[in-house]
Amino acid sequence: MTMHPAYTQPDDYAVPGAQALVFATREAMAREAARRIAEACRAAVSQRGVAALMLAGGSTPRRTYELLAQEADMPWADILVFYGDERMVPPDDPASNAHMAHQTLLSRVPLPAANVMRIAGESGDAAEAAAQYEAILRGVTQERGLAATQGVPVLDVVLLGMGDDGHTASLFPYSTALDERARLVVPALAPPDAAVSQRVTITLPLCAAARLVVFLATGPHKAGIVREMVTQPAEAARRYPAAQVVSGGDLLWLLAEVDGGGGEGASA
Ligand code: 6PG
Repeated sequence: MTMHPAYTQPDDYAVPGAQALVFATREAMAREAARRIAEACRAAVSQRGVAALMLAGGSTPRRTYELLAQEADMPWADILVFYGDERMVPPDDPASNAHMAHQTLLSRVPLPAANVMRIAGESGDAAEAAAQYEAILRGVTQERGLAATQGVPVLDVVLLGMGDDGHTASLFPYSTALDERARLVVPALAPPDAAVSQRVTITLPLCAAARLVVFLATGPHKAGIVREMVTQPAEAARRYPAAQVVSGGDLLWLLAEVDGGGGEGASA
């Protein structure tokens, strides 16, 4: 594999079934993430006429979204945008993942409003919002002719972050939502120290059907978790929800081991 000067692929990051690329800076990681997402969306539209992109929340993706908004030749009219999870707050709340995505990406690109499927964080009832979102996810993907694997819509890109406890989306350690195999979207409860406790999250089967799953993680602590996924995969899968994620296609970890620079450790 030709090494890109911006990243290295050290042996100790050979996450089973995945590729891990380590970048010297968060900016280099964000640039590669934006490039990969754009590339996958262009390919999907060119091959199938539509692309399904699922966004991650938290703070790490902010720069990636800003750079994605600057990507040229993006077929935004044919890109469907979904969310991997949401906090149960209104979309204008700074804690809302939709708020962050709107600020950094969706307000900056010519994406038809109808292409964005937001989780109704304002609804006040996480279980109802989850059921409603699953119906929207299944309905829109079917309507637009996206493929499905064993009844699960095949999304083109699922972007995920990872918290300091190894959670991803709003799948938290030891949560029963990790065992969910029928529903694609469920209500979730974040730990007491999280920004917002009531959540809605996708479940693992949706990632397992996707063509490309991309994780973004920065800082030495999260890099250490990824190392554990390599050295002790079974124990890591028991402790960290992110370690249980598999992809229907490629699984890519984009890491920047550096600390600070905003958003570091700000996981919800
Ligand atoms: C959320 C996210 C969550 C996030 C991690 C990492 O709603 O909080 O979906 O899974 O990706 O908590 O957050 P940071 O990127 O802020 O560290």
